[in-house]
Amino acid sequence: MNYLDAHTDLYGIIGHPVGHSLSPAIHNMAFRATGKNAVYLAFDVTDLPGAVGGIRALGIKGVSVTIPHKEAIVDLLDEIDPVARRIGAVNTIINRAGHLIGTNTDWMGAVHALKEVTELKGKRVLVLGAGGASRAVCMGLMDMGVAGLHIANRTTERAKVLAEACNASWSGLDGISGVKASILINTTSVGMTPNVNEIPISPELLPYFQVVMDIVYSPTDTRLLREASVAGCRTVKGIKMLLYQGVAQFELWTGENAPIPVMEQALRESIGM
Ligand SMILES: NC(=O)c1ccc[n+]([C@@H]2O[C@H](COP(=O)([O-])OP(=O)(O)OC[C@H]3O[C@@H](n4cnc5c(N)ncnc54)[C@H](OP(=O)(O)O)[C@@H]3O)[C@@H](O)[C@H]2O)c1
Repeated sequence: MNYLDAHTDLYGIIGHPVGHSLSPAIHNMAFRATGKNAVYLAFDVTDLPGAVGGIRALGIKGVSVTIPHKEAIVDLLDEIDPVARRIGAVNTIINRAGHLIGTNTDWMGAVHALKEVTELKGKRVLVLGAGGASRAVCMGLMDMGVAGLHIANRTTERAKVLAEACNASWSGLDGISGVKASILINTTSVGMTPNVNEIPISPELLPYFQVVMDIVYSPTDTRLLREASVAGCRTVKGIKMLLYQGVAQFELWTGENAPIPVMEQALRESIGM
């Protein structure tokens, strides 16, 4: 039974804006299900150094970090683990007695969601997009031993920079027709609410892929995923990545297994599924 008292542990998310965040629903449900005396709140933060000082001063146990602070916070913490350093972004802070450690669970979320439907080792992957989330996804894919990775982005210079960091090939979004891959992952924001009729790739190319993942989670069934289903591909939704990055956070913060079905249910209820 949860209650709030002088012993309640505080967790939260910092971002700007954060009103849309699904993380409070997921984590509070997980705390309740595991009987933790803990609460998770959303903090709309524009003064990032001030917020980091607040985490330390108030003893906030764990913090999720979201847009636009994932990169800037790297220089403000006491320690950045090697994975987050390589990705160049922190989405999770662990407070160990005032020592703030930054890590990244976005890559774990993406890899875990993909592995529910496909092996990754030895596969060839086409990633659309080269933004912050793409960095995490691509680093995770390389660590899983994919045989080949091609990164295509609207701004080709950004694709080139990321491709060089993870030993991949690269092109613009218009240079993918000859790319050989069995897995397609959209990490662009194309198709996200309110532009739900947009699709980042021509639907005629979809039958070439066995698995299609869209990390966009609003809407949950993007046009890309709907067209991919019609084309006979196995699909992976963005909410699965969101779920498993939260699962990894819970486990890092508490040292216990996360109540995954409960967290998934909380996620589905908050997005009205
Ligand atoms: N499921 C999850 O857990 C999860 C986690 C993180 C993010 N996301 C989602 O992933 C998406 C990207 O997030 P992010 O943090 O990586 O954002 P970001 O750093 O701003 O990157 C945005 C990416 O989308 C591309 N893009 C934007 N508008 C485009 C357009 N009209 N046509 C073609 N490409 C376009 C950008 O290309 P340019 O470089 O050319 O601008 C860039 O590659 C968002 O929808 C976000 O909600 C999901």
